[in-house]
Amino acid sequence: MTETPSIVILTGAGISKESGLDTFRDSDGIWAKVRIEDVATPEAFARNPSRVQEFYNARRAGLKDPKVAPNAAHEALARLEREWPGEVLLVTQNIDDLHERAGSRNLIHMHGELLKVRCEYCDALLEWDDALSTATPCPHCGRKGGMRPHVVWFGEMPLGMDTIYEKLDTCGLFVSIGTSGNVYPAAGFVQHVRYRGLAHSVELNLEPSQGATLFAEVILGPATEIVPAFVDRILKDGVPEAA
Ligand code: APR
Repeated sequence: MTETPSIVILTGAGISKESGLDTFRDSDGIWAKVRIEDVATPEAFARNPSRVQEFYNARRAGLKDPKVAPNAAHEALARLEREWPGEVLLVTQNIDDLHERAGSRNLIHMHGELLKVRCEYCDALLEWDDALSTATPCPHCGRKGGMRPHVVWFGEMPLGMDTIYEKLDTCGLFVSIGTSGNVYPAAGFVQHVRYRGLAHSVELNLEPSQGATLFAEVILGPATEIVPAFVDRILKDGVPEAA
C-alpha cells in the first residue's frame, strides 16, 4: 500500500480576482495604477512612509467590503485539505485572508498578511484591521514610527521558505493556481518539483503563465470553475503518476 501523496498548492492573486480583489499584472491590475517602487519596497517606506501606509490602508479597508468574500475556488481548496487523506499545504502569495475565511488551515502566507502589522523596533507581530500611520505607537513597546505592514516587499525575504522547500521536496502533486509566474522564488517552485521528477505538476490559470510549459498539465479557465472541478477529480481519481 503506497503512502498517500502529499500535495503542495501555490496560489496567486488570480484566485481572489472573482472575489473582487485586483490582481497585479492584468491590464486593470494594481501595478497599472501605482508603481512598485513607490509603495512596495523598503526604500519606498524609508522615503515616504505615509504614502506606503496609505496604499496598504486602502487595501486593508477593501477587505472589509462585504462583497469581498471567499469564492468557490477558495472553498474547494479548503475542502481538499479536509478530505484528502494526506497532507495538503497551501502556500499563498496573497496577503488577503480569503483562504482562512474559506477554512484553509495548513497555510503559509509567503508574502505576509494585510491584516497583520509589526513593530520594527521590538518585532511585535499584531493582528490589525484598521488604518496604520507612522504616528501609531506600538501597543507592545510604545515607540512611534516603527509600525509597518507585515507584508514582504520586493527585495525582502519571503516567509516560510524552509518549510516550503521541505514540502516541495516530498510532495506527490504540485498545483499552481492564479499566478502569472513573474515573481521568484514562487515562480521557481515548479522547476524545483520537476527537477526531482517525483511529482505531478498542474497549472490552473485564466491564461498560460510565464512558466506554463514547465507544468505536466495546464488547465485554463476562471478559478471558480476549474478549481472545484480539479479538486473533485483529485478526490475521486487520486494523484496521477509523475509525468
Ligand atoms: N481565475 C484564474 N486566474 C486568473 C483569474 C481568474 N479569474 N484572473 C486572473 N487570473 C490570472 C492572470 O491570468 C495572471 O496569470 O492570475 C494571474 C495573476 O498574476 P499577477 O497579477 O502577476 O499576480 P501574482 O502572480 O499573484 O503576483 C505575484 O507579485 O506583485 C507581487 O507580491 C505581489 O504576490 C504578488 C506577486
